[in-house]
Amino acid sequence: KPVVLSGIQPSGRLTIGNYLGALKNWVTLNEQFDCYYMLVDLHAITVRQDPAVLRERCYEFLSLYIACGLDPRKNVLFVQSHVPAHARLSWILNCYTQMGELNRMTQFKDKSAKHVDNINAGLYGYPVLMAADILLYQAKKVPVGDDQKQHLELTRDVAQRFNNVYGPIFTVPEPMIPPVGARIMGLQTPESKMSKSDDAETNAIYLLDDPDVITRKVKRAVTDLGNEVRFDIAEKPGVSNLMSILSATTGDSFDKIVEQYNGQGYGKFKGAVAEAVVECLKPVQAKYRDVRDDRSGLQSILREGARKAAARADATLARVHEALGFIPE
Ligand code: AQP
Repeated sequence: KPVVLSGIQPSGRLTIGNYLGALKNWVTLNEQFDCYYMLVDLHAITVRQDPAVLRERCYEFLSLYIACGLDPRKNVLFVQSHVPAHARLSWILNCYTQMGELNRMTQFKDKSAKHVDNINAGLYGYPVLMAADILLYQAKKVPVGDDQKQHLELTRDVAQRFNNVYGPIFTVPEPMIPPVGARIMGLQTPESKMSKSDDAETNAIYLLDDPDVITRKVKRAVTDLGNEVRFDIAEKPGVSNLMSILSATTGDSFDKIVEQYNGQGYGKFKGAVAEAVVECLKPVQAKYRDVRDDRSGLQSILREGARKAAARADATLARVHEALGFIPE
């Protein structure tokens, strides 16, 4: 089976954006693909993390992966730092990536504007580590939200460049971007993406938010002064974002949503969005409570995941070393 690989940084708190743009779509892929899903802790330290919080958060995120429906028997779930090949290939790919390419990455620009006191080389090299993550597994498809499209393009360029010099070492991956939900925007700032490390609590819906918190956040979401429910990102970013959330959680088309809620004021529409999100997260939250406290169970899932991941990653790394002329270990 072809391979799918994706990951999330264990930073902040998982949002409905991460769910609709990534996690939800991962769940259905294991019949068609061999699926590898990581917690990218090496990426997370590009921003300063509290060690105790980071450790707990990794278990929390793994529990949420499982709660969202990722069965560890059918998917390889692992932590990036447990597989040393990621850091090793990343170094090598650094030597095949141009600074000019990295200078163009919008995530780097955004994050360095946000963390002005810590614009470290790791933040700059973030997309190279991501390329290593993907290429190590010879992944054919990479399911991500729209925000990662540029990084995927870079991965493809680096893979092709390497293959042109050394022969077909890497599979050139393709992004798999969901038709709806690929870019969920902030509830208070619908012109920028909902982010899991946002300081403003009310801007994001977190997967572990209580139902009444979710309802309050949706009701207070920024819209506009009109009462028209229609999809128009430029004119009506807030309403359009809520429509995306409703469509991605219920499966209803934009046309159906317009037909049901247009012209009736935003109250009824927002009520429906809140209810849809609460319903969608209910089973996730229940399952989360079941798995979260089984620390030794979670640890053994990660051990097993790292073993399987390393087997595949090491094979690629060995081919890369050979191609480069490194002496075999
Ligand atoms: N708003 C979003 N809509 C749809 N998909 C999204 N993703 C992230 N935000 C949205 C997808 O989730 C996966 C994990 O990406 P990430 O670990 O970079 O998480 P993040 O929420 O994007 O984190 P931030 O906002 O950059 O904050 P930090 O990094 O500081 O924690 C990816 O597949 C992404 O596309």
